[in-house]
Amino acid sequence: MQKIIIDTDPGQDDAVALLLALASPDALDVLGIVTVAGNVGLNQNSVNALKVVELSGRTEIPVFAGCDRPMRRTPVTAEHVHGKTGLDGPDLPDPKIALQDHHGVDFIMDTLLEAEPKTIKLCALGPLTNIAMALVRAPEIATRIKEIVLMGGGCFEGGNITPAAEFNIYVDPEAADIVLHCGAPITIVPLDVTHHMLATPAHLERFLNMGNKTGDAIHKMLTFSERFDLEKYQWQGAPLHDPCVIAYVLEPDIFTGRHINVEVEVSSELTRGMTVADFWGVTTRKANAHYLRHGDTKRYYELLVQRISKLP
Ligand code: BDR
Ligand code: CA
Repeated sequence: MQKIIIDTDPGQDDAVALLLALASPDALDVLGIVTVAGNVGLNQNSVNALKVVELSGRTEIPVFAGCDRPMRRTPVTAEHVHGKTGLDGPDLPDPKIALQDHHGVDFIMDTLLEAEPKTIKLCALGPLTNIAMALVRAPEIATRIKEIVLMGGGCFEGGNITPAAEFNIYVDPEAADIVLHCGAPITIVPLDVTHHMLATPAHLERFLNMGNKTGDAIHKMLTFSERFDLEKYQWQGAPLHDPCVIAYVLEPDIFTGRHINVEVEVSSELTRGMTVADFWGVTTRKANAHYLRHGDTKRYYELLVQRISKLP
């Protein structure tokens, strides 16, 4: 059983990632879900997280609100992709469960400080503000983290919010910089992987045909969030980014990558948040991340469908 904390800004693809994790009680002990400002503002992201937890029926999982803005930058959001609520598509009921009183950053710090070292993985699906804040406030947690698995960045695929940068890293590049230099084992799931995990009409139909309300909600969510990417990329489907993080934790051999050096651009405005990935080893900079490069799309969707079909 793997213990994980999920840090997220749901987001339709975050929602599917949460549902994959919550559908896996045999393999994952989800200690808590922490929200962060990202796709939309913190309060709405928190409501969305509570709605998704209720949809899954796993209402015993605590949800904490984290930081409401990046460490140093003005917030940037993505309503143009995810809709006004960040989770447009299905009509999910207002949540009955509530947020925990504890701040999300305190939850991350305290949980890592109290647990056996190297027993907890952090799964980051949004800007890295909460995790960086926890590392700044309690640097000793770095050696206690088993692994940070994060969706963010890109190299071969360029960026998706600017030509150079991927959204999660762009929103809070200083946080990403802190995380990448913290010394904990890190796996990066970049656009280079997620741009090949396309939710084609055939995959979407599999969610619809699951016959459960979760599958129906996912079909509605992804049908909504696809509209923007389909026009943007003109591909057969939109990339389904964040569930790759949970899929990697569940079945790492779906993916392949290399241990390389990755740095984040924090100075330039033109390339703000760019991940400079030394994939070919052309510098002597020390490797600080396991950078995933390829994933098996068929196995990825198989895992999603097989597990999520067990939810209500
Ligand atoms: C990332 O940005 C967000 O909009 C998605 O939820 C994902 O985490 C992809 O660049
Ligand atoms: Ca996200």
